[in-house]
Amino acid sequence: MNTLSKARTPKYFRELQDLTQELGFSMSSDMGIQFLLQSLCASKPNGIFLELGTGTGLSLVHMLHGMDRESRVISLDNDPKLIESVRQTLDQETRLELLCVDGDRWIEEYQGEGFDLIFADAWPGKYSQLDKTLQMVKKGGFYIIDDLLPQPNWPEGHQAKAEALITELETRTDFAITTMEWSTGILIATKIN
Ligand SMILES: C[S@@+](CC[C@H](N)C(=O)[O-])C[C@H]1O[C@@H](n2cnc3c(N)ncnc32)[C@H](O)[C@@H]1O
Repeated sequence: MNTLSKARTPKYFRELQDLTQELGFSMSSDMGIQFLLQSLCASKPNGIFLELGTGTGLSLVHMLHGMDRESRVISLDNDPKLIESVRQTLDQETRLELLCVDGDRWIEEYQGEGFDLIFADAWPGKYSQLDKTLQMVKKGGFYIIDDLLPQPNWPEGHQAKAEALITELETRTDFAITTMEWSTGILIATKIN
């Protein structure tokens, strides 16, 4: 299961793993969600994708690995050091637009086309600006979040927030929702109208 076979190991994955260690970055998503993103991006040829919260780019390279040549991805983070480091590693990748911006403001101001998949992996797009982020998903597209099962590093009160978010998403009629007690706790919302 989820082994790093050569065929599924994204280009630059090892370099970004080294970077993650070097920077002591501890918020990377786990391997389960990374492979899920790879598969879901592969299901949308000529797709346009969004990652909120680049981190050290480990999920991002899985998204890129799944994407076809015509697809594009925007990934953003508000930490200049992270964005600069990922940019240096992925500077040959023409399908990628990396942005160093505040996620809340960017989402609020975004007026471009809808996305085939949004991986919302920062506070913005998940615990703030949720409605606008969900509006940005195309019909048939996916909104994906992880870290929904209790994590050892959660501050007090966060579990209630995560549960409220799941309930809010489950009660929406414009998305079909699947929650999975797998990996760190995943929710896949597919826009149905
Ligand atoms: C969970 S980590 C992302 C991990 C990455 N997606 C991965 O899978 O490896 C969350 C990231 O969100 C970024 N972040 C936090 N607040 C933000 C904000 N207001 N706007 C943009 N990025 C933010 C952090 O700098 C951090 O890198």
